[in-house]
Amino acid sequence: MNKKRYLVTSALPYANGYIHLGHIAGAYLPADIYVKYKRLKKEDVIFICGSDEHGTAIEISALKEKVTPKEIIDRYHFANEKAFRDLGIEFDIYSRTSNEIHHKTSQEFFLNLYNKKLLIKKSEKQLYSEIDKKFLADRFVEGTCPICGYEEARGDQCEACGSNLSPLELINPKSKISGDTPIIKESSNFYFPLEKFQTKLEEWISKKTNWKSNVKNYCEGWFKTGLKDRAITRDLDWGVKVPLEGYEGKVIYVWFEAPIGYISATKELFIKKGDPEKWKEYWCDDNTKLIHFIGKDNIIFHAIVFPAMLMAHSGFILPENIPANEFLNLEGGKLSKSKGHGILVKDIVQEYNPDLVRYVVASNLPENKDSDLSIEDFKTKNNNELAGILGNFINRTVVFTKNKFNNKVPERNRNDLEILEDIKKQTEVIEECYENFRFRDALNETMNLARIANKYFNDSEPWNVIKTDIEKCKHIINNCLNICYSIAIAIYPLLPFTSKKILKILNVENSDLSWDKIGKINLVENVELGTNEILFPQIENINKSLENKMEEEITITDFQKLNLKIAKVITCEKVPNSKKLLKLKIKIGKDERQIVAGIAEHYTADELIDKSIVVVANMKKTKIMGIESEGMLLAAKINNKLVLITTDKPIDDGAEVS
Ligand code: 2FM
Ligand code: ZN
Repeated sequence: MNKKRYLVTSALPYANGYIHLGHIAGAYLPADIYVKYKRLKKEDVIFICGSDEHGTAIEISALKEKVTPKEIIDRYHFANEKAFRDLGIEFDIYSRTSNEIHHKTSQEFFLNLYNKKLLIKKSEKQLYSEIDKKFLADRFVEGTCPICGYEEARGDQCEACGSNLSPLELINPKSKISGDTPIIKESSNFYFPLEKFQTKLEEWISKKTNWKSNVKNYCEGWFKTGLKDRAITRDLDWGVKVPLEGYEGKVIYVWFEAPIGYISATKELFIKKGDPEKWKEYWCDDNTKLIHFIGKDNIIFHAIVFPAMLMAHSGFILPENIPANEFLNLEGGKLSKSKGHGILVKDIVQEYNPDLVRYVVASNLPENKDSDLSIEDFKTKNNNELAGILGNFINRTVVFTKNKFNNKVPERNRNDLEILEDIKKQTEVIEECYENFRFRDALNETMNLARIANKYFNDSEPWNVIKTDIEKCKHIINNCLNICYSIAIAIYPLLPFTSKKILKILNVENSDLSWDKIGKINLVENVELGTNEILFPQIENINKSLENKMEEEITITDFQKLNLKIAKVITCEKVPNSKKLLKLKIKIGKDERQIVAGIAEHYTADELIDKSIVVVANMKKTKIMGIESEGMLLAAKINNKLVLITTDKPIDDGAEVS
């Protein structure tokens, strides 16, 4: 019989920002848990990831910071690699798409399709900036979204309504580099014939009865609208060069080459291991199960585009499953790198035990719908669950052994395996969760092991039994210690650091962990235990600085965008039919204007007249309840009370605040 293999990938994160918990919940923690579980099952599994280092997002970050793209990718590649490691996420390789092997592999892939005449060459109108001397692809151009009217839509996508766009569809396009209004110029690019693959893809996905419904529904949505051919080259400098003469100044589109990164990284892994041909076993043999862990924004590329590319190339396996997750929200708002309200892994691991972070994220995984993580979870889950249930069982067992049995594993003296069998049975429930990518359930069922264990301890009452039947008590504690060992194995995929700590406490740190050992007698009688340690110390207060860190940092240039001025209130009146709004006429130097402010519950209209206040003077005009407002006043909020920001010395209106 041919042996099964697993090739597990996590989406290659862009190397232009730090990894945050939203990313972790989407594509990394579930994959790591799954891989660790498979390793315990002694399956042949490799776990592939790396940085996605091309694309206009990276070039734009470099431009903004006035550094080279190489500086950007180096900074984030190494920082993210460390962040994953600190969280116990262990890839077999964390590669980079800027590596030569990736450029070569992507170019060969491209040429394979080109030589088969599958690629479609189209000469097309593109936006070109004569100031920048460049075609403005994807994010190099911004303008108004033709669908929703959002004024800062990017050339590839509108962040406001989510529509995919092409630069030419933007109304009033402007270069992101110089602000120049581009002209239209012809350029020739290659398209991948995705339309041609629709039937084959539909047939293939229809057989995937075990795929999560969110993933299938998403694909069906795309099929319904009909797949369109996709441009796979761009007029850019940064990226994998198009390997054809006459195409200088063009690169392969980042979303075409990035998934090929999984293949290049596998090659690199086996070159490093001194077995350079072995990658083929994982990519070209039907006994391998390829599993892509991703967030929902990547479904189209992993379930449709990349499989179509693999079909077109031929010789590669297709993904067995794509257990994509939805989004993790933080305190109600989306954790997004671009919006800046993510908890960064590099910060949170400074604050908390990495296993607590894994636990909080795993128990909130957005497996079927978006989920919400609250900062308070770090305290409650630590104190009530990890310390209260899991830590408690290990601690009471070890303390009892120390106090009553000289810290040595007491002898078994009965033929009673019932509790160990219960533990074993429970692990079958856990297995079933893992096999179906239900990681939240796996976590709850794993905690149930500790609940079963605590119940056994309570029901057996070793503290009473010892008074009348010491032999029986020894047997009970032997069971409990062997359950501690079973728990150390079972929690390993979720809480790898704690698993190791328990093994150390049991003085069996070098034992080979295997799922099969759960529910068995593994500890040698009379062997001394190691030193006890409190696995999850109580958390009294959540560090509020963490919440502050979630705020996006801004540069001086960002701050300078605000035009803050001193204004004097000339008249003020209540807005009819509104409890909250006041209409103010204000004077800023020579300028007079009207603003509407939501402070009627805190100040009467009369109180405001003649006050010197601070306003944002360059707010875009807007209408609030149909009344025009040309600015915004500044107020501080404390216990839901608003207090106006005023000046401590008299000052003329019109003065600048900086
Ligand atoms: O969304 C992202 O962060 C992409 N960089 C994911 C790429 S996954 C794969 F295709 F490489
Ligand atoms: Zn839009």
